[in-house]
Formats: sequence, structure tokens, C-alpha cells
Amino acid sequence: MQYGFFDDKNREYVITTPKTPLPWINYLGNKDFFSLVSNTCGGYSFYKDAKLLRLTRYRYNNVPYDNNGKYFYIKDGETVWNPGWQPVKTELDSYECRHGIGYSKFTSVKNDVKASVLTFVPMSDTCEISHVELTNNSSSEKKLQLFSYVEWCLWNADDDMKNFQRNLSTGEVEIVDSTIFHKTEYRERRNHYAIYSVNTKVDAVDTSRDAFLGAYNGPDHPDAVFAGKLTNSVASGWSPIAAHQIDITLAPGETKTFNFILGYVENPEDQKWESHGIINKKPANEMLARYQSDADVDKAFAELSAYWDNLLSIYHVKSSNEKVDRMVNIWNQYQCMVTFNMSRSASYYESGIGRGMGFRDSCQDLLGFVHLIPDRARERIIDIASTQFQDGSAYHQYQPLTKKGNSDIGSGFNDDPLWLIAGTSAYIRETGDMSILDETVPFDNDMSVATPLMNHLKRSFDYIVNHKGPHDLPLIGRADWNDCLNLNCFSAHPGESFQTFGPSEGPVAESVFIAGMFVKYGEEYAQLCELKGDSAEAERARAEVKKMYDAVCTAGWDGEWFVRAYDAHSNKVGSHECKEGQIYIEPQGFCVLAGIGVKEGLAEKALKSVKERLDTKYGVMILQPAYTEYHLELGEVSSYPPGYKENAGIFCHNNPWVSIAETVLGHGDRAFEIYKKTCPAYVEEISDIHCTEPYVYSQMVAGRDAKFFGQGKNSWLTGTAAWTFVNISQYILGIYPTHKGLSVDPCVPAGFGDFELVRKYRGATYNISVKTNGAQKGIQKLIVNGNEINGTVIPYDPSVKEYTVEAIMG
Ligand code: GLC
Ligand code: GLC
Repeated sequence: MQYGFFDDKNREYVITTPKTPLPWINYLGNKDFFSLVSNTCGGYSFYKDAKLLRLTRYRYNNVPYDNNGKYFYIKDGETVWNPGWQPVKTELDSYECRHGIGYSKFTSVKNDVKASVLTFVPMSDTCEISHVELTNNSSSEKKLQLFSYVEWCLWNADDDMKNFQRNLSTGEVEIVDSTIFHKTEYRERRNHYAIYSVNTKVDAVDTSRDAFLGAYNGPDHPDAVFAGKLTNSVASGWSPIAAHQIDITLAPGETKTFNFILGYVENPEDQKWESHGIINKKPANEMLARYQSDADVDKAFAELSAYWDNLLSIYHVKSSNEKVDRMVNIWNQYQCMVTFNMSRSASYYESGIGRGMGFRDSCQDLLGFVHLIPDRARERIIDIASTQFQDGSAYHQYQPLTKKGNSDIGSGFNDDPLWLIAGTSAYIRETGDMSILDETVPFDNDMSVATPLMNHLKRSFDYIVNHKGPHDLPLIGRADWNDCLNLNCFSAHPGESFQTFGPSEGPVAESVFIAGMFVKYGEEYAQLCELKGDSAEAERARAEVKKMYDAVCTAGWDGEWFVRAYDAHSNKVGSHECKEGQIYIEPQGFCVLAGIGVKEGLAEKALKSVKERLDTKYGVMILQPAYTEYHLELGEVSSYPPGYKENAGIFCHNNPWVSIAETVLGHGDRAFEIYKKTCPAYVEEISDIHCTEPYVYSQMVAGRDAKFFGQGKNSWLTGTAAWTFVNISQYILGIYPTHKGLSVDPCVPAGFGDFELVRKYRGATYNISVKTNGAQKGIQKLIVNGNEINGTVIPYDPSVKEYTVEAIMG
């Protein structure tokens, strides 16, 4: 069952009922000002950091679902309704929500009044615009009232939910005409405030939540709206809000429009005040002045569209498969932007106050983003590397606003260092910009110990070399990519963190997964050394990689698949010797994509085992058999009920690893089959089972052992976005950036048909057409600007700006 449809021409998903199984959300904002907006107008906004600079309140963990947003109420006689249906939930005569790329548009009709709300964050201001249009489609005049409503968050979203003894006394606002200024804590340590304004004269406002809602009411029944009269309340402590009242007369057929602006404003420390106690409103007024007319809004909206036209022209495919084109050209790339911006901080499942930017997460997010805006990827790499420690280990997370490592969680996740090599290598392969390796980057944000980025990569590499266990495999530390494989923690009491409890960094427990990563990214490190002219270091690196390769093929091999790990007692994890959890997906995918065991025939066996033991119709499960008991020596992985999350869920993030591994073996059919199983466009038709948004990936789909097999959870912020884009764009469609130039080497299913691709790369445009000849892999001929070339790599030549490439497979 579906709750909407894709409109590819407009790059939108059109939701046709507000009653989706879960809130289906979108993200607004590209750089500093962000909003989450659901299909019923729920959501919230923040500036740069969802924890520290939250503008509006949202109620996680509340009922009904999706409580609090930026609401508009329309009062038409005795009927009060909202264009997004919530919060009043008056039945609408028609409803539509279009989630587009960086904007959402609601269009609803009730009693012959049509309301539409277009909401987006303009490119060059720290605000959200909501453009509201009301049309009277009846044959008589209508007297309506339009009300707006947002509830301010007192900036620190964590403190806002906890520290009531203070917070209920600090709220302050100023009101000037149609603009409400939220200035809590501005008197003392803040130099920023928020505004909510509308480009018309208002009939009344409210800034006190209690005055607006009435005691014991929620936003579903604001007394002031139902009475048709806001009270001009001035908040003092308690819960400040911003609500406007506009009385409107509409002749038959007439339309009126309004621009509501929710903004964030900062003043320089010495220009905070206009006069004693009165905030300096100059920058706010200047911002508002930019969005007064409909033409202003149209222009800002056109800028946003043009921005995305440009980004989405960098990688564009035209195949005979509509679903692939839709995901590759629109939604997958869009989700990559969102994960790049948010890491794992703010979604409907990540509360914005927990994890900030993840070291491993952000490095992986880069992989799917770097072609879009390489400069931002560059900046991010430096930020991430700045949280590394001198021994090569790293803070597992850092706060986006301060860019400082988070010491609650600390370090000791032993896969982290290698992801820095992965991200940097991807950046350089994309751009050819070797200068990044010479950037001076601090350790733990301490400039006195700064060193060139290249040296950070060396420390990453050596961290693994210097932290090996009894089988010459990498020590796992607190966990590797699988946060829940906690082999050194032994947590037996509720409330203890599975990751940081106990000895945590034992000298015995080892990870075959990190070994696979080391083989892959160790080679990428060696290539960077070579490019830097350091062939001795490249040789040393390759010798270490070779040792690791051998260790994986011996101690890391179980007979039919790769072992997952060795626990703190040196027992195997993910082996046929185990009672539960005999086979894990991660080492099968990653070791094979790193090329391990291909020539020895191990890779083929490992992937066959994946197919036999882990595959389901909804994707490949992370492990089998599921843990039915808590294993103290394994930790959180065995804490989840069977079929959920890391305990035998379909963890979408590592499905592309297996799909890529299949392309390494030339199995286009199987690679694509795996791709399709979790691909949103393919899953759309089972939206009633899948539940999460059909236009983006979720972190997890419940596995075969779960009661709700096939149900998605934790949508949007997942490494699945980047890895799937890498899989489909670089391996299946086969356009892979190397240091020497673009490689064209697709691996597609036999019936895929011919396809065309535009790829912009290092300042040139490549127009590529691929004749598949029914083959799954193998380039027979590559003709570049009329000349046949050897191999699959089109040598990069800065003097050529246009390439016409014909690739003939078979
Ligand atoms: C989550 C985390 C990621 C981790 C994965 C597996 O997606 O964000 O860092 O690798 O879970 O545990
Ligand atoms: C990852 C995992 C999750 C785990 C968490 C711990 O996000 O997906 O299952 O609880 O890490 O930090």
C-alpha cells in the first residue's frame, strides 16, 4: 500500500493523506539554519547545532505522535483547521504534502477555502520562510482569520527539557508591530535572539503560551484561536511563544498571500543593545526587509532550485529503469546532503541532544557527498581530523557548534582512525587536491601539537599496526563499526553504557572487520604515500597490508565465511562453532570489497554463505541465528530482541557492502538484487509494512526473527545513504574516481539495458554512454573523444573540458 507517489519531474514525493504510518519528514536548510518538517507540519528549527541553539520546541516521546511544529490555524466561521491537518485534526476536504528538495509544500482545502504553505530556508539567510496563500473558492465573500504559532525553545534543548526551576523564570520577548523577538538569556551570556514575523499588519499577537492555549490545553485546542481573538500577552518567564492573528476578508475567487519569517539573528558583542534593555534589531529588520514581497520569496525559492539543479547535474543517469534514475538523480543524493549536514544529530529518531557529529559516521557520510561540494567536504575532513589524538585514536563524537570532542563517550572505537583515511582518499580522488595533505591540523583541537594532515593519516594507519591481538588481527577496543559488539565491557547492570563500561580496551578481543578495513584503506593510504613521493612509506604500508591479508585468510576464516571477531577470551564470534550469531554480514561484505580471498576462492564462498544464511526478501540480515540470550561477553548486540537492530535486523548500512562485494566478483545480477531490496523506490509499494518514508533509507528494517518483519526504523540519518550512493554510482553504474582519472567499469544485471550518464569531475563534463550487450561486467572497448583507450580509466587531462565516452561491455 502507498500513501503517495513520486513526482520526478518536480523532484518531489507527494503525500496524499496526513495519516501516514509514521511522520514522514523533510529537511530544510543547507548550511547553518535547519528545520525538520513533517507531513503534518510538525518539526523544529535550529541554528548550526540542534542541541545548543534550538529555536523552537518539539516534544519527542510524546503522544499523539509528532507533537509541536510550526502551525497555521484557519478560522472560518466555527470551523478551525490546519493546512497540515495537525494539530486540530479537522477532517479536510483535500490534503496534499509535497516534500521537495529543501522545501515542503502543503495544499489543503476546507469549506471552499484553499490554503497552501510553501516552506523553505533561503540560500543566504538564517531563516525559514513560510509563504501562505489563502484562496476563497466559494461564490460568496469569506471572513477568515489566520493564526500562526511557534513555541520557543530556550536555546539549549537539553537544559530546556530538564531545568524547570530556572527556565520557567527566564523567558523574555519584545514585540514590535508584526515581529516577535525571542530574547531569553540575551541579557547575560548570549548575543543572539530569534524572530517570528509576518509581512503584514497583524490584528493581535500572543507571546505567552498559557494565554494562547488556555490552561490544560494543547495546540490542538488553543482557546484564543477558538475564541477568534489573541490576547496580546507579553511573556514573562514560563513558556514564551509567538503567535499572530490576521483577520482577512476574501471576495469570491480572491487570493491573499503572507510571508512568515522565522529567523535567527546574532549581534556583535559591542552592538547588542539599541538602548538599555532593548535589543539591537537592525540585523533582524534588514533580514526581514529582504522577504517582504511575493517576488522576493519567488526569487529566493528560484535560487534554492537553481542551487539544487546545479548539484544534481554533477552525477545524472538516464537508464531504462525509472526507479534507479529517481534514486540516483534525486533522493539518494539529497539524503547524502542531509546526512552530511546532520551526521546522526537531529531526526525524528535522533533527538538532537544526544550524539553530535560521529567521527566514523561523518567520514562515511563524506563518501556520498564529496562530489557535490568538495570544499565543504574538505573543511569537514579538517574538523574531524582535529579531534584525533596523537596516538591516532580519536574522539568518537564531537559537537557541531564547538567542534570539540565529546569526552563522555571518549575514544577507543578502533575502526574510527581508518575512516579518516577513507574520507580523505575519497576527497583527493574526487578533486585531485593534494594540498589538503599539507594542511596543518591539531590533535584534540590543540594547535601546539598540530601537524600536516598526511601525518594524521599515518597515525591512523599506525594505530592499527600498533594495536593487534593474539591472532595478529586488530584489537577491537570498545567496538568497531558495530557499536553493539562490546567485547571488553561485560556490563551486567542496567544504566551502564554498553560501550564505555568496564575495562573496554582489552588486549585480546580482535575484529576481522577492522582487518578488512585495514586492507582496503591501508592500500588507499599507500597510494597517497606514493603520490606524495614517499615510496618507502608506501612499501612499508603495503607490507603491513599483506600481513593483515594473510591473518584474515587464516585466523579470520571459518571454513565457509569470514569470522567476525575474537572475544576477550579469544573465542570466535561469528563462527559455526558458536551457538548463536554464527555468521555476521560485516566481514563478508568488507573483506570481499577489499579484495580479500578473491583469488583464493574464499570470497565466492563467503558471499554464497551470505545468500544462504542471511538473505531475506527485505534485505540481508546483519547476523544469524539471532541471539536469544544475553551474552555478557558480547554486550549490546545480544541485548536487542531477535530481529531488531544489531541483533539480526536488516541493518541497511552494510547491505551495500555486500552488493559492492558482489560487483568485485562480477555478479551484476546479485549486486542489483541486493540493491533493490532496501531501495526506497522499490519499497514504496509496501509502505504499510515498511512504515518509514518511501523516499529515503532507514537505518534498520526488522529482520526475519522480529514480530514486525520488514518494518523500517530510524529513517534519514544513516550511513546507508552514502554507502548506497557509492554502490550504485561507483560500482553498479561503475563510474569510479581514481587518482588518475575517472574509471568506467559498470557491473549491472544482465537485462539492465544501455544507459547514459553525465558526470562532472575536476572541472570537466563527461558524457558517457554505456552499451551493455547483456553483459554483467567487463569493458570490451572504451572510446574517449573518438579514440579507443586501454583499460577503464580515462586519464585526467586538465586541458580537456568535455569528454564523450562510449563504453562497450561484453
Ligand atoms: C549507527 C551508528 C554507526 C554504527 C552503526 C552500527 O548507525 O551511527 O556509527 O556504525 O549504528 O552499530
Ligand atoms: C548505534 C547502534 C545502536 C546502539 C548505539 C549505541 O547507533 O545502532 O543500536 O544502541 O549505537 O551508541
